[in-house]
Amino acid sequence: MTFNSTLATLSLALAASAAAAPLLKETLATGFRDPMEIAIAPDGDFYVVEREGRVLRVNPNTGGTFVIGEIAVQALKSTDSKSNYAREDGLLGIALDPDFAKNQRFFAFYSAPDVSAHRLSRFTIKNGKIDPASELKMLEIPTERENRVCHDGGSVKFGPDGMLYVSIGDNTNPFESSGVAPIDDRADRTERDAQRSAGNTNDLRGKIIRIKPTESGYEIPPGNLFPKGTEGTRPEIYVMGCRNPFRISIDPKTKTLYWGEVGPDGRDDTDKGPRGHDEVNQAKVAGNFGWPFVIADNKPYPIVDFAANTIGKMTNPAAPENHGQRNTGLKILPPAQPALIWYPYAKSDEFPGMGEGGRNAMAGPVFYYDPSKKYNILGKEDDRTLLTYEWMRGKIFKTKLDANEKVEKLEVFMEKLVHPMDLEMDNDGSLVLLEYGSDWYFNNNGSVSRLRPDDGNKPPTITIKAAANSYSVDNAADPEGGKITVTWYLTEGVTERKLGAGSTVTIPEGNFQEIRAVATDDKGSVGFARIPLASSEELPTLGLELGKIKGKPGFGDTVNFKVNSDRMPDAGQIKVRTRYIPPTGHDSGGPELPEEAMKIATASQCLACHQVNSGIVGPSYLDVALRYSGKADARTHLREKLKNGGVGVWGEVPMPAQAALKPEDADKLIEAILALSAGMTETRGTQKGSIRLTPDFGAEPGGAWEISAEAPGYAPAKTRIPAK
Ligand code: HEC
Repeated sequence: MTFNSTLATLSLALAASAAAAPLLKETLATGFRDPMEIAIAPDGDFYVVEREGRVLRVNPNTGGTFVIGEIAVQALKSTDSKSNYAREDGLLGIALDPDFAKNQRFFAFYSAPDVSAHRLSRFTIKNGKIDPASELKMLEIPTERENRVCHDGGSVKFGPDGMLYVSIGDNTNPFESSGVAPIDDRADRTERDAQRSAGNTNDLRGKIIRIKPTESGYEIPPGNLFPKGTEGTRPEIYVMGCRNPFRISIDPKTKTLYWGEVGPDGRDDTDKGPRGHDEVNQAKVAGNFGWPFVIADNKPYPIVDFAANTIGKMTNPAAPENHGQRNTGLKILPPAQPALIWYPYAKSDEFPGMGEGGRNAMAGPVFYYDPSKKYNILGKEDDRTLLTYEWMRGKIFKTKLDANEKVEKLEVFMEKLVHPMDLEMDNDGSLVLLEYGSDWYFNNNGSVSRLRPDDGNKPPTITIKAAANSYSVDNAADPEGGKITVTWYLTEGVTERKLGAGSTVTIPEGNFQEIRAVATDDKGSVGFARIPLASSEELPTLGLELGKIKGKPGFGDTVNFKVNSDRMPDAGQIKVRTRYIPPTGHDSGGPELPEEAMKIATASQCLACHQVNSGIVGPSYLDVALRYSGKADARTHLREKLKNGGVGVWGEVPMPAQAALKPEDADKLIEAILALSAGMTETRGTQKGSIRLTPDFGAEPGGAWEISAEAPGYAPAKTRIPAK
């Protein structure tokens, strides 16, 4: 698992799985902020949507990345990072019109900012930018946003026959149903009831829809689940019974639909239902895939009465019934279809190749061997291989299918990826991989790479440096010792300007966003180096004034401070911290987990929710360390929390029980986390006051004090003063 950014960088030196033919990874563009889906244009350019609304074009030949517009969406913001309001909403998916080369149209699926609904819209690009006036709102799907709802889905893809498929999640709170089926029928439990959405034939949530776009909207094609006009049903539905159908794909030859289905959290089978499984599903024809009544290979859930906490009738997968009071559709549902691939947290008996650990299944393209293509990422014997990927496990899997599209063999294809988010087959037969970035939210290290067969020719490496207004190559090397040519580009809005070739360039007057050098080796492999010229969105900054200090402050002394800014944050949000930096040794800019603890945290998937310095779903480890610093019962409390999970100390999001974590590993992690605050102190929630420096903790005197002020959504202030 690779969640932290150190590992993210290391993963560039990629390790393909031993069993698979190696693939070479060329990183083409970086710096994306929570990228969600990628689409490939006929001319080879890529279009990427980001969760908070930006749409970007990528030129894979020059590494140029251009913001072509921003769609206003409802999305979680870093200034409100603990909000429980529809955390997964945002700009979720993009597909280009099959006639994109001519009409420059694309389809986007997003959470509307003006109404509580997801929206499918068509937009047109004019002069390289999204024309906001071109928006054609095609479809709106009302959603709930309160009470910790999850699961948006949001993948948008065209089939080879021009049908448009969109996946939509169940819009349900999964936290209050013991990790089994959220079918809470009590009156005030709307958001905990997937009978109203995924199980409802008259609602588009928890579905994959299939429509035929027209000039002014869309038509219903034949072959969907319910014939048009069937009472209590929606004709757009192709697949029902989905929980969180996240990324989808359509076989270019057979039109078979594939999707990854993110399953519930239950770790063990209980009398309320089977343990949770993720699924990769296959629909050759329209169907009901069971949620929230059936999971995996048609394992049924009983109907639980949440008011009485009693267990009722077991679902019959051949005819699931939905008697939920919020169901507005059919009471007897179409027969449930089993998954193609299913796996729990633990190692799967049926699909051991999936490994074990966190789950987040996604479906990628089907590979067909084609000697007319520039690249074949697999061999002739692998013709008809489904590629799937796992956001949590950081892997791509290959599943060889037989002539009837049944699973023959499932293996790891590639690993050590940083939250793979989308995978597409490019026109030349290579794969295009979108990686989300190391954290759960607020990444700026998402990336786009090309995966192609390893022909032994590694991409060249290049670094560049700036001097006044000229830029030059610092270092350029081809691992095979071949000849390198360097070409320079300037990004100017939605286009780029070629500056010429050579080792040094001077940039003209103008308003440019980036200078980029592209190194090409004699076999055509490319490497990129970039320097931003203007940071487009500056955060407001904080200032920090220190009170008069007599001499150099030492351990245990007090320092007065005042935080200021042109736009003051709420005082309650301000954190002032001090850190002692010893005179000798290496200072890495802040505390870090030692290697052994980092290994355990990585293997236990803690880093998906916590990093040392940034809170993601849970608090940052440094925040935890400072909170419990010097508290006698900290260890007992944290041991208990890791074992059983819990909520309410840091917010309303619960920490799941870390059942797989060995007690001795838990203790090692707790010690390492608590040790992060060594040499540090903190004061919270005040703009002006005093802070006590750490008492002597055995460090060598004569170093420096770093004093910092932070608030969410602000660039922090940091200052250093010499220590006694
Ligand atoms: C799915 C997200 C998630 C994962 C995975 C996760 N945590 Fe947490 N963690 C949380 C949340 C949310 C909280 C805050 C709970 C609260 O407010 O009481 C938390 C709180 C904590 C705390 C502070 C507890 C307290 O009561 O102050 C520690 C320590 C911690 N986690 C360690 C870990 C470790 C170690 C792992 C891996 C073995 C881990 N977490 C995995 C979400 C997660």
